[in-house]
Amino acid sequence: MKAIYLDHNAATPLDPRVLDAMMPYLREEYGNPSCRYGPGVNAAYAVERARLQVAKLLGAKPGEIIFTSGGTESNNLALRGAVRSMGRKHIVTTSVEHPAVLNTCKDLEHYENCTLSILPVDAEGRIAPHKVIRAVTARTAVVSVMTANNEIGTIQPIVEIGSLLQKEDVLFHTDAVQAFGRIPLNVVNLHVDLLSLSGHKIFGPKGIGALYIREGVSFRPQITGGQQEFGLRGGTPNVPAIAGLGMAAELARLEMDNRSARITSLAERLRDRLLSDIPGLLINSPPRDCLPGTLNISIPGVSAPRLVESLDREGICVSSGCACSEGKQGPSQVVLAVTGDPDRAMSCIRFSIGPENTMDEINHVALTLPKILSRPTP
Ligand SMILES: Cc1ncc(COP(=O)(O)O)c(C=O)c1O
Repeated sequence: MKAIYLDHNAATPLDPRVLDAMMPYLREEYGNPSCRYGPGVNAAYAVERARLQVAKLLGAKPGEIIFTSGGTESNNLALRGAVRSMGRKHIVTTSVEHPAVLNTCKDLEHYENCTLSILPVDAEGRIAPHKVIRAVTARTAVVSVMTANNEIGTIQPIVEIGSLLQKEDVLFHTDAVQAFGRIPLNVVNLHVDLLSLSGHKIFGPKGIGALYIREGVSFRPQITGGQQEFGLRGGTPNVPAIAGLGMAAELARLEMDNRSARITSLAERLRDRLLSDIPGLLINSPPRDCLPGTLNISIPGVSAPRLVESLDREGICVSSGCACSEGKQGPSQVVLAVTGDPDRAMSCIRFSIGPENTMDEINHVALTLPKILSRPTP
């Protein structure tokens, strides 16, 4: 039986149309985009087309998009680049950021003498814009607030924070890895200077991403080498993956509304069925302004990693805590930060639904989970 895949916040399947867009650059169009003869020019054309496709989805200019190896590298480039280019050593961020932001900040604290203000969030995982502004000082280089949370789905008030920060002399970065291609984003309305995105959350390939750097922001590369990517990221670009990211962005632009409507109704059905059939179940995802398709629940007293294994034996793929730190089996830091309840943070699992999921699959999961829980050791 085909697995029921409900872990789209960890990775999405590669869209066959994306694969088709990549294939020529894996086969016959192998030229280096820096070379000025036919195959090189064709590869360079593919990179520039993808840059345009990504920029279009963000309301950005193509020259503001720098291709990287993924969301993690984009976050590193944004934060390390901001500290360097501002020549200041204070960072403001939140307690629910992805490790790609939090651990980069901690590294900067340890090795570059940076100081951090890691702000707490409310019971829905949201940061109040005025708290962000209050934390900014004359020493602040960058404020980094994620657009949407990978574990519970909370969408942050980026527009409000961005417009308040316009009066401050700091850079504003948002980790939009979960939001890009899933909810409408426009960098001009958001008032962000830096925005990170990744390919494998939007049916593109893994190991490819981008950083939006607003025109006029002076920046230095973290990876030095050739003058690729406007001199901001050395190294021969991964042309097939870039072509794939471009196609994935184009498809997301055209299909976002339909995908979103579909997965929202599937997630609502799953939430309603689980709430009615599992006594004591708690919902960790916020009731409003939540990433479509993300449903994080806790079943107090139940070990989430064991439940994930039991679901896997039934052919159902979900995550406990954060997929990116899977194997570490500690409480979910995000659910802990939001609820302050260690039991709830040890017993949470995340469903993240995609447009290829069906109502039959959701109904099957809603039947299977209570059955597993009724066994002596779920
Ligand atoms: C919010 C967020 N930021 C960053 C990343 C890291 O992105 P990548 O896997 O492309 O390095 C992830 C991956 O799950 C994420 O969810």
